[in-house]
Amino acid sequence: LNNGLVLTPPMGWLAWERFRCNIDCENDPENCISERLFMTMAKRIAEDGFKEAGYEYIIIDDCWMTTKRDKDRRLQSDPERFPHGIKYIADYVHSLGLKMGIYQDIGTKTCIGYPGSEGFEKIDVDTFAEWEVDYLKLDGCFKDSALFDRDYPMVGKHLNNTGRKIVYSCSWPAYQVEKKMMVNWTGIRENCNLWRNYGDIQDSYESITDIIQWYAINQDMLIPIAGPGAWNDPDMLIIGNYGLSLVQAKSQMALWAIMAAPLMMSNDLRNLRPEFKEILLNRDIIEVDQDAMGIQGRQILSAMRGFGIEVWRRPVLPVKDVGNETWASFAVVVWNRRVDGTPFYFPQRLGFYGLTHANGYYVKELFTKKDYGLMKADDELPLYVEPSGGVVMFKATLAVADGSVDA
Ligand code: GLA
Repeated sequence: LNNGLVLTPPMGWLAWERFRCNIDCENDPENCISERLFMTMAKRIAEDGFKEAGYEYIIIDDCWMTTKRDKDRRLQSDPERFPHGIKYIADYVHSLGLKMGIYQDIGTKTCIGYPGSEGFEKIDVDTFAEWEVDYLKLDGCFKDSALFDRDYPMVGKHLNNTGRKIVYSCSWPAYQVEKKMMVNWTGIRENCNLWRNYGDIQDSYESITDIIQWYAINQDMLIPIAGPGAWNDPDMLIIGNYGLSLVQAKSQMALWAIMAAPLMMSNDLRNLRPEFKEILLNRDIIEVDQDAMGIQGRQILSAMRGFGIEVWRRPVLPVKDVGNETWASFAVVVWNRRVDGTPFYFPQRLGFYGLTHANGYYVKELFTKKDYGLMKADDELPLYVEPSGGVVMFKATLAVADGSVDA
């Protein structure tokens, strides 16, 4: 969507995967969906280095409402869990230099069953604008998905008419893909800033591989629609939760960056082990994700053909124009899906990854920061990739003729 927003994939924190619909503030006051949870997480983002790294949006998901609209048919937040209302949280979030997001559903109910927007689209969007919300995640439960092609653009017009700059996150394709319907991808990219394509992420490595697999199979359809202001959304980062080992957490970070994915953490920032925090704050990888060209990466070797080794790459800046050709720099991920317990030796020439410009490339590994210096297409990169989901991620920065690098 060409509204000037999210020219690089949005980054932030989203409650759902980690905190779900926990509304039991009596027994679990620190983890229930409440004012306290969002203000605490906003503070952690602002104070623990996440804001400096680019994480910006604090997003409320389902289960923030009461079950009834007010007498003016407006949505209301649950008075016990959100005693000061949503605007109060938005003001706090803004005071920290961050942005505020909220969840609603385009159908008659949210996925959990709270009041949906159908028939109240304009009132709801106006309400969010009044609360100074900066981001709307609009889900697609409880509605005939055939009507999405009409109604997601309709809500987009209402958003635009508020005059407030609001990022528009749609679940429009996710439900249509699930039902194997025809998907109007052009319409989606013209009307939404980002969109969920596929099922919900769960706290497991299997869930991550399943999502990545789907992105690989459908990459020829997905890559052309992504770009500045318009992003495929493979769902939240689950790094720092219960389900991923350290190497698997690295694989999610690396592959999400290759896919130009939104980086929305859903984790407990109050109890984040330092090694997971370090992954989430890896500046080199965030820089790949946030590359200004906004070209989504692709799988260039499948695990099936690579005997368990999968390779992905994404063109990034700097680029160099030669005649009518553009040569890019690349971020590359080598991902080991083997489970044979030992690091896999993967020695390949740079040319194997398609890095063939005669000037060569400066190669640097982005987790270990190992610097390989200037390499040419025939030089071999001797990688060891850890098993059970390990990754090596390197950036190959195209050298200019004199052997230096365009910044
Ligand atoms: C759907 C969405 C999730 C979450 C839940 C909330 O399943 O895909 O991300 O928002 O609804 O109920």
